Amino acid sequence: MPVDRDKLKQQAALRAVEFVEDSMIVGLGTGSTAYFVVEGLGARVAGGLKITGIPTSERTATQARSLGIPLATFAEHQHIDLTIDGADEVERGSLNLIKGLGGALLREKIVANASRRLVIVVDQEKLVDRLGDHTAVPVEVTQFGWQATAARLKELSAEPVLRHAHEDHPFITDGGNYTLDCRFPRIDDPRRLENAINAIVGVVDCGLFIGRASAVVVAASDGIHVMNAL
Ligand code: 5RP
Repeated sequence: MPVDRDKLKQQAALRAVEFVEDSMIVGLGTGSTAYFVVEGLGARVAGGLKITGIPTSERTATQARSLGIPLATFAEHQHIDLTIDGADEVERGSLNLIKGLGGALLREKIVANASRRLVIVVDQEKLVDRLGDHTAVPVEVTQFGWQATAARLKELSAEPVLRHAHEDHPFITDGGNYTLDCRFPRIDDPRRLENAINAIVGVVDCGLFIGRASAVVVAASDGIHVMNAL
């Protein structure tokens, strides 16, 4: 029988929502898995849970507002107790991540960086032995000079492809930037690669999240598994 990925995502999301406690400042991720997290949080808020959310995208902010989740910005809170977000790849063992196929990597990284705990929610298809096995690394770049930035990325052996929203219309992030999806032949040292990418002028940030996840909740056909960072 084919696996219902949405059902798995929802199961993992609801498990992660159990980590949220009264009066927490909670980072709200972006994507189809984070959607179920926000939905689950909305149900708990309707039941009396008191939290303040900091969303990682306009999309998530709209969903959270529609569910009555109180929102704030970094103007009010510079520290977040717990962020729950999705990912595109999770490396088994290290819990290093690739994020950003959903287009929100910069805000997601800022929110993750401000968080005491980052809990990632995925279905089993997202687990890989080596980062880059399945997906490209999204790199957010300024619109100005993006072709020159792409050329510098090629010098790191990337094959950058400008992401499009529609034919002839590049995808524009909430921050007003472009995204270059970069395939790498093999990623042996993701931390070094993250530093090298982020050192290129014109790069705003990249979707390598190294050493940031505190735990990963994985929904598999045999149940929910929680993997904790060492
Ligand atoms: C958005 C992200 C998402 O967390 C990632 O793309 C996973 O999305 P989904 O849950 O829809 O597979 O990084 O920028």
